[in-house]
Amino acid sequence: MSRNIRIFDTTLRDGEQAPGCSMNLDEKLELAHMLEALKVDAVEAGFAVASPGDFESVRQIALRLKNTAVASLCRAVPGDVETGWEAVKGAAHPMLHVFIATSDVHMKYKLKMPPERVLELTGEMVRKARGLCGEVEFSAEDATRSDRAFLCRVLDAAAKAGASTINVPDTVGYATPTEMAQLIAYLRENMEYAHKVRFSVHCHNDLGMAVANSLSAVQAGVDQVECTLGGIGERAGNASLEEIVMALRTRGDYFGAGCGVDTRQLFPACNMVSRFIGQHIPANKPIVGANAFAHESGIHMHGVMSNRNTYEIMKPEDIGITQNTMVIGKHSGKHAIEEYVRQMGMEMDAAQLANLTEEIKRLADVKNSVDRRDVEALIAAHRQPEYEDYALQRFIVNSGTSIPATSVVQVTHHEQEMKEVSMGDGPIDAAFGAINRLTGRDFALESYRIQSATEGGDALGVVDVRIRDGERSQRGRGTSTDIIDASIRAYLDAVNRFLAKERKA
Ligand code: KIV
Ligand code: ZN
Repeated sequence: MSRNIRIFDTTLRDGEQAPGCSMNLDEKLELAHMLEALKVDAVEAGFAVASPGDFESVRQIALRLKNTAVASLCRAVPGDVETGWEAVKGAAHPMLHVFIATSDVHMKYKLKMPPERVLELTGEMVRKARGLCGEVEFSAEDATRSDRAFLCRVLDAAAKAGASTINVPDTVGYATPTEMAQLIAYLRENMEYAHKVRFSVHCHNDLGMAVANSLSAVQAGVDQVECTLGGIGERAGNASLEEIVMALRTRGDYFGAGCGVDTRQLFPACNMVSRFIGQHIPANKPIVGANAFAHESGIHMHGVMSNRNTYEIMKPEDIGITQNTMVIGKHSGKHAIEEYVRQMGMEMDAAQLANLTEEIKRLADVKNSVDRRDVEALIAAHRQPEYEDYALQRFIVNSGTSIPATSVVQVTHHEQEMKEVSMGDGPIDAAFGAINRLTGRDFALESYRIQSATEGGDALGVVDVRIRDGERSQRGRGTSTDIIDASIRAYLDAVNRFLAKERKA
């Protein structure tokens, strides 16, 4: 009989805390709803004590999700547990996730605590959490590098104090699949309370083994896997949710296990995350990369045309890519465009759809052929922040090998036309300088990335930027067949989002 594996998503906590992956409140709420539509079992909404913003996003997510458990992470510290509870207590299924490190190196150098104190705190804080919340998970940070006998004592203390889930993190992505399975087997055999708890794993991807380690743990008997969409997370990231889910679905025969995730939401959900964090999904990313279902070589194409089973072990439809054969162009149907929007994990009202249709038509006027990647790029850049303080009107750039680059950028700012000129180290630097002058701010360009949506000289350029002023940073995205236009739009998008966020704060 197939076992059901719980999927505990931590995109909004471990994923979001990774550099360059931050999301604003609206994005977090939209993603939380997407995770519920995906039918994950639990969502770790954040680390409530980390900041008032984190607290508020955990609280709001807790109030909104109806079927999915909502957890807040808490260190084994009374204030963390109390704040975590304040944030999740309005949830239909609240959960507290208490953790403390158990490896010698963490206890000695990070916690500066003797092992006996770690043991004591585990019992005290899990008991405190359990006094507030019906469902408590306990994690032994750096479990895979901890002394096994000590780990058993700590996990038993947590279970005895009321933790219903015992999570075993491979915090630094150090374990191998065989070791992971052996550790789970050891804990199941040697923990006094093993039969009373649900076992979980949480694997990082430093050596590229996070998914393999998680699946190996499933084979060794864990009931829950913690993972993130697209595998985003600290350093090399966490185990990819979509890879675990599709491995269970495709090789359920081998793992003897499955899960309740609605796989048709995987593609939209991963695209939503990519759009929110401004990072492209690599083309060769398993399951959701652009090439995951592409067959270029003649032999493969011929095989797939004769029988899909020759080279396809999964169907694109299973992850939410419908085979859309429409020709995208001036006469594209409203329904086809709506379907693309859905696949990108977005919702648009009638006005936004009409706007997008116009953009697609304009693109079809300048580009020989428009395919789904162009449409996806336009959709991904389409989202407007709540307030568009600065809207691009026009720009002029002047640049060459023997003249300093200059740029004039004209915008409307609250219905007023403004323009500024600036010199720079190349046309893009000059244009960004002009925008800084328009805003009266000294935004620093922290990162700049350009990628073309398709092949060919007339391809859409997709620019992602990150700007910073003081403590705060913000990403932005712009697309255009002209890379300077795309860059200016990306910078203005970042500025508008930055100002909206600043006002909210
Ligand atoms: O990687 C880790 O150890 C964690 C814990 C807090 C669960 O993220
Ligand atoms: Zn982690």
